[in-house]
Amino acid sequence: MTILVTGGAGFIGSNFVLDWLAQSDEPVVNLDKLTYAGNLQNLSSLDGDARHIFVRGDIGDSALLTDLLSRHQPRAILNFAAESHVDRSIHGPEDFIQTNILGTFHLLESVRAYWGALPADAKAAFRFLHVSTDEVYGSLSKTDPAFTENNKYEPNSPYSASKAASDHLVRAYHHTYGLPVLTTNCSNNYGPYHFPEKLIPLMIVNAQVGKPLPVYGDGQQIRDWLYVKDHCSAIRRVLEAGQLGETYNVGGWNEKPNLDIVHTVCALLDELKPRADGKPYKEQITYVTDRPGHDRRYAIDARKLEQQLGWKPAETFETGIRKTVQWYLDHPQWVADVLSGGYRDWVEKHYGGNDKSAT
Ligand code: NAD
Ligand code: TYD
Repeated sequence: MTILVTGGAGFIGSNFVLDWLAQSDEPVVNLDKLTYAGNLQNLSSLDGDARHIFVRGDIGDSALLTDLLSRHQPRAILNFAAESHVDRSIHGPEDFIQTNILGTFHLLESVRAYWGALPADAKAAFRFLHVSTDEVYGSLSKTDPAFTENNKYEPNSPYSASKAASDHLVRAYHHTYGLPVLTTNCSNNYGPYHFPEKLIPLMIVNAQVGKPLPVYGDGQQIRDWLYVKDHCSAIRRVLEAGQLGETYNVGGWNEKPNLDIVHTVCALLDELKPRADGKPYKEQITYVTDRPGHDRRYAIDARKLEQQLGWKPAETFETGIRKTVQWYLDHPQWVADVLSGGYRDWVEKHYGGNDKSAT
């Protein structure tokens, strides 16, 4: 048996692949386009491991997908591949439409053809799990209840709108064609291998080199934060026991304003790697112009996943953020390679832009 993971060189996908192969000998075919967000150094511990089959390619490439599916016969597909950064979607939405909407559509078409031709028992056991976000539900006021799976979709950024569209396509392929799908909508993740243009890793990295810590607007926007390994365990649980066609909200019960997050990161750095001048890192906080259309609050009600499938996060925010800051302090070379763009050279040297599995 084999699973196919898309976007497995990104932040969450690489954590998922590492966790999967730490717990199972079931091989993973990892299809990733290696955009700026794909970093094979995240998976360097799997070099030479025959259970990890990396393929560089686009989820929208139907010919590649048809070939991969018929060659590897996966029992499940987990779709992590996406353009994922809200700020990038504001500056250039087109890639988001291309990958998140059209890419998902082409992937679904390839999967539908493959699944439709499977023998009855393999067909019944097959799963397509789509990894999505809480941002599809839009923004909450301070007093609104947290998002449940029944909330209306009200996406506000090109990123969330493109993810919402992909969720709708996945749903439609279940209702129209019977494709056995599952969807997860998760809150903000943090942890190892997070690309340092997102809030938490950016703060950890900037703080240490004496750069400003840019807080958008008043810093009172609220997000729910989940340690990435907990997201991975939720996905594994939904894959193994989720009801077909259902969606599951995944969250950490950790609603925090951005400014609190930045203060927590600063306090941990003060403890673990104090500034040479003895001053607190929070002195580097700088308020900058707010993001256009900035959602004020996200909050996840994850009771369905807990009550129906028995999943709970293992980390609190306090334990998860400490591990995260420590991980960045312990991996200066990973950070340096991302900042210098050296990780792209590494990819070229190891893969030369080729499909490794075909060699
Ligand atoms: P990421 O940007 O770190 O990684 C995305 C990966 O997908 C990269 O490796 C990239 O190379 C690859 N990719 C992009 N376009 C592709 C294409 N057309 N074909 C194949 N591969 C392609 O993103 P992430 O933070 O790891 O998020 C993974 C998934 O989880 C996304 O679908 C995202 O919407 C969702 N999600 C993320 C968060 C979060 O906090 N990061 C929260 C909830 C849901
Ligand atoms: P981000 O990590 O980009 O995730 P998302 O937009 O998907 O929630 O941002 C998290 C929050 O932090 C969001 O409210 C925007 C804010 N933010 C800053 O205040 N400063 C920054 O430099 C960044 C990148 C984000």
